Amino acid sequence: MFQKLNELNLKKLFLILSITILIFSCKQITYFDIPPITKEASGQNGMVVTAHPLASTIGNDILKQGGNAIDAAIAVHFALAVCYPIAGNIGGGGFMMIHSADGKTECLDYRETAPLKSTTDMYLNEDKTVKKNASTLGALSCGVPGSVDGMWQAHQKYGKLEWEKLLAPAIKLAEYGILLTSREVNALTNAQEELLEINGKSNPYYIENWKSSNTLTQSDLALTLKQISEKGRDGFYKGWVADSIVSTMHRHDGIISLQDLNDYRAKWRKPLIKRIGDYTIYCPPPPSSGGVALIQLLEILRQSNLDSLPYHSTAYIHLVAEAERRVYADRAEHLGDPDFYKIPIDSLIDSSYLASRMSNFNPLMATPSDSISSGVFEESDQTTHFNVIDAEGNAVSVTTTLNGAYGSKLVVRGAGFLLNNEMDDFSIKPGVPNLYGLVGSEANKIEPKKRMLSSMTPTIILKGNKCYALVGTPGGSTIITSVLQTILNLTQEGFTPQESVNSGRFHHQWRPDTIFFESGTFNEEVIDSLKKMGHGIAYYGAIGRVELIEIVDGLMYGAADPRGDDCAMGY
Ligand code: GLY
Repeated sequence: MFQKLNELNLKKLFLILSITILIFSCKQITYFDIPPITKEASGQNGMVVTAHPLASTIGNDILKQGGNAIDAAIAVHFALAVCYPIAGNIGGGGFMMIHSADGKTECLDYRETAPLKSTTDMYLNEDKTVKKNASTLGALSCGVPGSVDGMWQAHQKYGKLEWEKLLAPAIKLAEYGILLTSREVNALTNAQEELLEINGKSNPYYIENWKSSNTLTQSDLALTLKQISEKGRDGFYKGWVADSIVSTMHRHDGIISLQDLNDYRAKWRKPLIKRIGDYTIYCPPPPSSGGVALIQLLEILRQSNLDSLPYHSTAYIHLVAEAERRVYADRAEHLGDPDFYKIPIDSLIDSSYLASRMSNFNPLMATPSDSISSGVFEESDQTTHFNVIDAEGNAVSVTTTLNGAYGSKLVVRGAGFLLNNEMDDFSIKPGVPNLYGLVGSEANKIEPKKRMLSSMTPTIILKGNKCYALVGTPGGSTIITSVLQTILNLTQEGFTPQESVNSGRFHHQWRPDTIFFESGTFNEEVIDSLKKMGHGIAYYGAIGRVELIEIVDGLMYGAADPRGDDCAMGY
């Protein structure tokens, strides 16, 4: 009898245990909760700083599994496409700076290209006026995506873990869903009208009332990621995913073809290099304007002894703004895709040329830009930046984007991902400002297969032959000036990494002829005196979301920007 009772109890116990395990595992796979957001972190073995705590967690896990910084960066890139769809992507492009432990530094350009059927005047009406929204919304605004080929090539050259392992976390996030932060809810709510207008209700980003308790599940995207996991680049640029892109194009009068997808290739480029004091700064060459402009600014400010001026004083801001005005004028005229346009890079970064650019600088008065353009600023977080470093000293700095928030707002039907609206980064008509108020010329006109000019500036700084810092930010045209200010804060002002990221930022881009300030972070008397010197003044909520890693004596310090949900994680 006792034996029978024991058997009964054992069965009961087994049943209770099974139910508990079932409930526990169901709870685990219902959705991914948001891990605590840490702004500052330190570690000796690895550091990841991204715009989203789930992506930072995933990057850290890959490092802990024995992956190198490039593996972790690839996993982060795919994770951001799921948990940070405002800018994380597989339907966009970007620039990846890699410094490998053996001392080599390279730039991977996976910028989008103009489709074969694109033409220089494709966004102009017959009377040469600009077609409203054509370069910013919907299928015609999309460039041929570069992100998947970029990640594939980075993995082929530097990857250590299997490709499938790097996709697996993103697939899980897409399948099980993620809980949204209130910032993401706001961003999705703001984009609802356009997402709905373009895709109807059957898109993963549609829900009647977004709340922060909502879960974002992306089952079509999970299928696409599985396809990429199984087939590598061909899982995206060929087969049913490519077919879905092209049929979505047909339905929405877009022009990306199977041949465009098949032909797309990311390119390895030599980074631009600038030595200042003990530091060697590596930044991306064209088709990003970021490297050229950053080097021009650093050199002008060195020659003008910015380091002798009190931080954020009238004289300091005036000098930086005047340097920026001149550099952005060069950007508009001379920069574009180097495979299509001969860019005078050596002349642009030559010290005597840069000295001559400041010959008409007046320390007491603003130099007016030729005329005031009607450029306007959009939100600053449409792009995203992340940094990773591992214990061996491999370091990766990546900026990637769909361009505007949620890109073109067009979701690929059946494949569940957003396409970029990067065509707007071309000069669609000389003198007409783009989303970021930037103007362009012949160098950046639309031509089939050409890459549109970017401002993305993922940057790696070495001290001696060791990686000293990784820095970058989103923010369209403000990317370059935010990266500049963070580097100055860290290397010239001696700020800690977190102070360097947190400090208030300002920006000038030649046209409009205005200094933009983050509201509430600058001294009003200083701003009044800048006005008296003839500067136009405007305020902006937040400029950029900088991610920074500094490495000192083998210790890695991560600093994530408090302006967003950005998160630093190390171990
Ligand atoms: N789409 C923003 C940039 O590339 O600069």
